[in-house]
Amino acid sequence: MKFGIVGAGVIAEYHLEAIRRTARAEIAGVYDKFPEAAKAFGEKHSIPIFDSIESLVKSGGAEVVTIGTPSGWHLEPATQAMEAGAHVLCEKPLEVTLDRIDRMIEVGKKMNKKIGGILQVRTFPGCQRAKKILEEGRLGKLLLADAFIKYYRTQEYYESAGWRGTFELDGGGAAMNQGIHWIDLIQWLADGAESVCAHAATVGHQIEVEDVCLGMVQWKNGARGVIEATTCAQPGFATRIEFHGEKGSLLLEDSQIKKFVIDGEDQPIEEATTGAGGHADPKKFSVEGHVIHVQDMIEAIEQDRDPLIPGHEARKSVELIVSMYESSKKEGWVRLDD
Ligand SMILES: NC(=O)c1ccc[n+]([C@@H]2O[C@H](COP(=O)([O-])OP(=O)(O)OC[C@H]3O[C@@H](n4cnc5c(N)ncnc54)[C@H](O)[C@@H]3O)[C@@H](O)[C@H]2O)c1
Repeated sequence: MKFGIVGAGVIAEYHLEAIRRTARAEIAGVYDKFPEAAKAFGEKHSIPIFDSIESLVKSGGAEVVTIGTPSGWHLEPATQAMEAGAHVLCEKPLEVTLDRIDRMIEVGKKMNKKIGGILQVRTFPGCQRAKKILEEGRLGKLLLADAFIKYYRTQEYYESAGWRGTFELDGGGAAMNQGIHWIDLIQWLADGAESVCAHAATVGHQIEVEDVCLGMVQWKNGARGVIEATTCAQPGFATRIEFHGEKGSLLLEDSQIKKFVIDGEDQPIEEATTGAGGHADPKKFSVEGHVIHVQDMIEAIEQDRDPLIPGHEARKSVELIVSMYESSKKEGWVRLDD
């Protein structure tokens, strides 16, 4: 199955690597709004360059288009790709507002095309195992579910592309860009958030968006918890996700289970080989999850089923994050359904 790449920046390297590592995927070519970016990427990797998304799909034969453009500019290329006849595999966040996400999902429905959201942390073995443990109710009634997301990004990182750290194209900061992987993970593991009370601030960078986002969450399953997301924590720490139930506790560190205790007794932990990475260096993280997303998209199309994380599922983490921002602005609790 042929995949086309839209957006020839940092994440495009991962998209190409994932396509090349997937036995039944083939690269159709690349398109970027800026022709020099597409040319540099195409020549570096010896792949065809296209001057529109339509030609990438219609002449290049791309059946799936991967979207790796700035976050607040996912809707337009995704729409063009679906209207040209391709399915879409889109980077996180799916878009930066719920309205833009809903418009993308509508186009998918109208054109009968699949939208897969890339949130690769969910695919890692430790996170999959954590989901199973929680689904089986092994911790008993959940009391607490917390996420500590302490990344480090330099001022130079934010200045490395004009869209970074802007509300319009990044949609937010520590929560919307970096924290989203883990905010998505914890909301998936805790079966969604009901309401949130948060404070967002910019304390260590010269940027429009927040570099600290602190929230208290009432999870739908009855548990309470906190989310702390920052890009100010030098040199960048492994993310911690912690669950405490009436029967025991489960601790994940950078997508690996580090502690699993039931009735005071340590349970066996399988050491996972794949970790998420990215907390210290935005260009150093595992490609394994992207490979799973590419493989899954091929199977979803062949079997005519939803991809691993369909549009409505990728929407959930954005809903929680924009609710945190709204809560910070109004200085009070926000219910997600509102
Ligand atoms: N899944 C992950 O772990 C992960 C990691 C990094 C980035 N991402 C996501 O990938 C997307 C791209 O991030 P990146 O770091 O590759 O960005 P980047 O700036 O390195 O690359 C973006 C590319 O899009 C092009 N572009 C298209 N339209 C543009 C516009 N209107 N304005 C500016 N540039 C435009 C740029 O020329 C550039 O080549 C973002 O949504 C980001 O959140 C995901």
